[in-house]
Amino acid sequence: MTRDEARALDREDPLRELRARFDLPDGLIYLDGNSLGALPRAAVARQQEVVTREWGTSLIRSWNDHGWIDAPARVGAKIAPLIGAGPHEVIVTDSTSVNLFKLLAAAARLSDRRVILTESGNFHTDLHIAAGVAELMGFELRVVARDAVEVAIGPDVALLLLTHVHYKSGARWDMAALTARATAAGVRTVWDLSHSAGAVPLDLNGAGAELAVGCGYKYLNGGPGAPAFLYVAEHLQESLANPLSGWMGHAEPFAFTDDYRPAPGIARFLTGTPTILGLAALESGVESFAGVSMEALWAKSVALVDLFARLAAERCPELACVTPMDPEARGSHISFAHPHAFEICQALIADGVIGDFRAPDIVRFGITPLYVGHEDVWRAVDILADILATGRWRDPRFAVRGKVT
Ligand SMILES: Cc1ncc(COP(=O)(O)O)c(C=O)c1O
Repeated sequence: MTRDEARALDREDPLRELRARFDLPDGLIYLDGNSLGALPRAAVARQQEVVTREWGTSLIRSWNDHGWIDAPARVGAKIAPLIGAGPHEVIVTDSTSVNLFKLLAAAARLSDRRVILTESGNFHTDLHIAAGVAELMGFELRVVARDAVEVAIGPDVALLLLTHVHYKSGARWDMAALTARATAAGVRTVWDLSHSAGAVPLDLNGAGAELAVGCGYKYLNGGPGAPAFLYVAEHLQESLANPLSGWMGHAEPFAFTDDYRPAPGIARFLTGTPTILGLAALESGVESFAGVSMEALWAKSVALVDLFARLAAERCPELACVTPMDPEARGSHISFAHPHAFEICQALIADGVIGDFRAPDIVRFGITPLYVGHEDVWRAVDILADILATGRWRDPRFAVRGKVT
């Protein structure tokens, strides 16, 4: 494919106008929306309003007058259709790590089995949090290779913790099949949707999923450190107790009683005071999906990832693609292994192509169809091929590592 052909595909793209919803620097090819989503234009005006009018002028009255107190449930209800959940099954609060702790510990209390099962190479916060819960509650954390997960779903397993789309390879579990298998074995599954929500069509209800968490700052465009979301299927909500039983999850936080009575429904999973500026930014991020179906975004993601894979196979043979080529088995990013992935990534950034590096040897490109087009992919691979062919990445300045890689 030529650059002109890529451009022609962009002209025919029914989603091309969506890019105008984001404020992206001219000329920059941003392929890292799976790590930090781009800035929605609406977020700038909304932050201004929340800071100056709601905080600055209305001050504490805004908890009631500007709906601050309802923001976790309101934004959760806006995320719900993106993940195939009911509006009362999702709430925005805390970080993904903290939410994972809450759901794992809450679900662990319901079981008389004593094993949490997960895969090795899962995102490390998931492994660390699961290890913490296991230690605290006298459980064993059983970590097995990806291809051994299904057979490890056994009679002593209480909980199965899986990241739906793998943060490095982009490999996607079959949520419905795994959930069915686990449920049949008496095992409850907790899904981490950090690389799925806003990236792939999800149907948590249809898949029988009961518990899930996910990031707000990646595909949902909620801004740096945006609050995360958690999902609890309606039928389970009343049986689960939030182990971080703070006042915001109380049935009557402003009754100031000594005893703890959980709020009915999903609200019991709140803990402390909601982060209003972060919630407002996330609300703008989620609203950037307005009027677009996940299916349409997914069709574009498939086309763009396929294009990236095809061009890279032709022009960058030294890169080993680690992402499944079957669209049903992947998410919306594509990753390659190379011993000098870090340096290559830095050389790309210097040339205006932002992807990211994942230790020890992966360069990763997030394909966010809301604001990435065919020509972006074409140019990214063109620049990548040139960096590899010229060996430009060997410049010592590209080996310098910051705290965040
Ligand atoms: C799969 C996965 N889970 C969790 C997290 C981290 O979530 P948080 O920083 O909100 O705790 C990430 C961050 O990249 C992730 O990729």
